[in-house]
Amino acid sequence: MKKILVTGGAGYIGSHAVVELYQAGYQPVIVDNFSNSEESVLAGIESILGVAVPTYRVDCADEAALRGVFEAEPNIAGVIHFAAFKAVGESVQKPLAYFQNNVGSLLTLLAVMPEFGVENLVFSSSCTVYGIPDALPVTEATPTKPASSPYGRTKQMCEEIIHDVSGAPDNKLRTILLRYFNPIGAHDSAKIGELPLGVPNNLVPFITQTAAGIREKLTIFGNDYDTPDGTNIRDYIHVVDLAKAHIVAVQRLLDHKADETVETFNVGTGNGNTVLDVVQTFEKASGQKLNYVIGPRRPGDVPAIYADATKAEQVLGFKTETSLADSLASAWKWQQTLKK
Ligand code: UFG
Repeated sequence: MKKILVTGGAGYIGSHAVVELYQAGYQPVIVDNFSNSEESVLAGIESILGVAVPTYRVDCADEAALRGVFEAEPNIAGVIHFAAFKAVGESVQKPLAYFQNNVGSLLTLLAVMPEFGVENLVFSSSCTVYGIPDALPVTEATPTKPASSPYGRTKQMCEEIIHDVSGAPDNKLRTILLRYFNPIGAHDSAKIGELPLGVPNNLVPFITQTAAGIREKLTIFGNDYDTPDGTNIRDYIHVVDLAKAHIVAVQRLLDHKADETVETFNVGTGNGNTVLDVVQTFEKASGQKLNYVIGPRRPGDVPAIYADATKAEQVLGFKTETSLADSLASAWKWQQTLKK
């Protein structure tokens, strides 16, 4: 089994990728500082797979500690780097923490990987790098625009750092940058899923917590945008579909099939849905009536963005499989598990 280091492997997307990696015949090794994840995730992964996944409680920005993981785990074939802070609003409050953590952990990783001859990297990027795009859907060639938050800027900076490092003489790094659209839902087993701390910032956990009676009502942030029903448009991708994109990306790197030292792919469904679409689809999929109100716009929100998913389909052979309704049903099933 080829060994893949998964930083942030106890996080929302990371935990689903660990499961898919193992089921695809890889040996995942988790590195996580558990700053935004819980130990219970490891039990969920073990219960799905029937085996425990080796896990190191290490902060990726701690170079000595990260080196220790590479020493303890010889023959790492590649790294998937999920570990990062991801709350847009918090990044405005604590920009330095975002740069230190998100940029810092990437720099450390890029310094340590070549010491151990590890050349393959899959990096978690985001559609946030496109800013407010001029045309939709966005392709990988759509020019990036100024980011609307320090969080978004860390993703842009990390992409640029990877390009610069890859362009240096004698550098052997090969990277696939995956630009995620909006991940939602949970594993079919409902043994792992999203575990937001405190009041959720993101739409789908807010919806499921409202339906579960934890929140009184959902506030929809604006219905006066230039979209069919006035609410924002996003591309919601099921987290297991997103996790699977990492497996094909890793495989491509290990097979030496990448055309360039850095390749970039959008990972979305290619469909744009409004916030009201999501609410109505959730109501149908769950049988729950959702209490919601229309509120003011949220500062920094992009009016509409969704992926052109053609490149991932043509080059990686990757296509999403789960409908919006099934994704929302899985989020609801997971929420009900949490209530117990
Ligand atoms: N929304 C509401 N009410 C809520 C929460 C969200 O109406 O209570 C709306 C938002 O206005 C937006 C849509 O639901 O139109 C989705 O919002 P999310 O907060 O779920 O996600 P974003 O599209 O804002 O995504 C952003 C960044 C991503 C980043 C993600 C992580 O663009 O890069 O936040 O939190 F990964």
